Amino acid sequence: RKRIAVMTSGGDAQGMNASVRAVVRTAIDHGCEAFAVLEGYEGLIRGGEYIKPMSWDDVRGWLSLGGTAIGTARCLGFRERKGRLTAAHNMIKSGIDAIIICGGDGSLTGADLFRSEWPSLLEELVSTGVCAAEDIAGHENLNICGLVGSIDNDMCTTDATIGGYSSLQRICESVDYIDATAQSHSRAFVIEVMGRHCGWLALMAAIATGADYLFIPERAPSPLSWGKEMCDVVERHRNNGKRKSVVIVAEGAIDDQLNAITPDMVKDVLVDKLGLDTRVTTLGHVQRGGPAVAFDRMLATLQGVEAVEAILSQTPDKPSPMIAINENKICRKPLVDSVALTKSVADAIDSRDFDKAMSLRDPEFIE
Ligand code: F6P
Repeated sequence: RKRIAVMTSGGDAQGMNASVRAVVRTAIDHGCEAFAVLEGYEGLIRGGEYIKPMSWDDVRGWLSLGGTAIGTARCLGFRERKGRLTAAHNMIKSGIDAIIICGGDGSLTGADLFRSEWPSLLEELVSTGVCAAEDIAGHENLNICGLVGSIDNDMCTTDATIGGYSSLQRICESVDYIDATAQSHSRAFVIEVMGRHCGWLALMAAIATGADYLFIPERAPSPLSWGKEMCDVVERHRNNGKRKSVVIVAEGAIDDQLNAITPDMVKDVLVDKLGLDTRVTTLGHVQRGGPAVAFDRMLATLQGVEAVEAILSQTPDKPSPMIAINENKICRKPLVDSVALTKSVADAIDSRDFDKAMSLRDPEFIE
């Protein structure tokens, strides 16, 4: 019987539990044994009780549950070959044939590296006497599959990542709450939202809440003019009768000289230039909290099922898949290409080639 493990890694995201539930139950339904690796890659390095057999009932009630019940970590040890060698040994000891990793681009980059190194890791385990040749028989190929779990919605080749819409919902609810007090005092609020190097959460939240202005890494303004440009818009809205002003700042917002645009800088401009009574709210980890919205439950479930099916139909000649959604269809993309493309986008933003960054993000780019 095939032994399939599932792991969550990196920052938690709503819907991760739903994806674990789907993987565990689909694996069991296909006659496989299901395992959960606790605490992300850290659990793979620790081995033993961190690689836990999972039953159908173990994941009952997980569909809507926020966070990740099997734990997650941003694991430094796995970035070192030594850590990956120990992880490989633990996988062989527990007879795991395949692993499904739900995480963001960093976690999936790690998975990709692990797979490409796998033959040399096995070789080292045997040549150093840690494993006997017969221990690794049948484990020659590492079968992995990526599920994209991240609130940032920053992975190329997929339209949505598990957690993105729940986080967006949390942001919109929070901005709605702030609206009441902003309106009452006729104040301006500068609201910082997460998203690392990606402005998707900020942009969609600004559209969904009718914010007055926003700053995102992908549209970096000139340091000389952003203050005036923002104030012109905010002032126009005030002159049209608005009692409150909301400016959303993505945590990765920069100007076109790559200087950070921080909420406090934006606040100072609103105070100095427009004389607005202004407050800053950093939403922080509230954005990762609460239950998964319906879209994420559905996405995580359909993708979890697809991940197990991808694992079961995988052959050594095929590239490892990443489960995506394109135009409402669940599909498989080559993991290595998706990860590389996501990295190219980050590089293009770093080198201020914003047009290139936007065109690379187009999911049509990889078929
Ligand atoms: O990648 C998800 C994310 O929530 C980002 O939006 C944010 O920058 C980061 O994780 C925060 O990381 P941590 O939980 O380690 O503080």
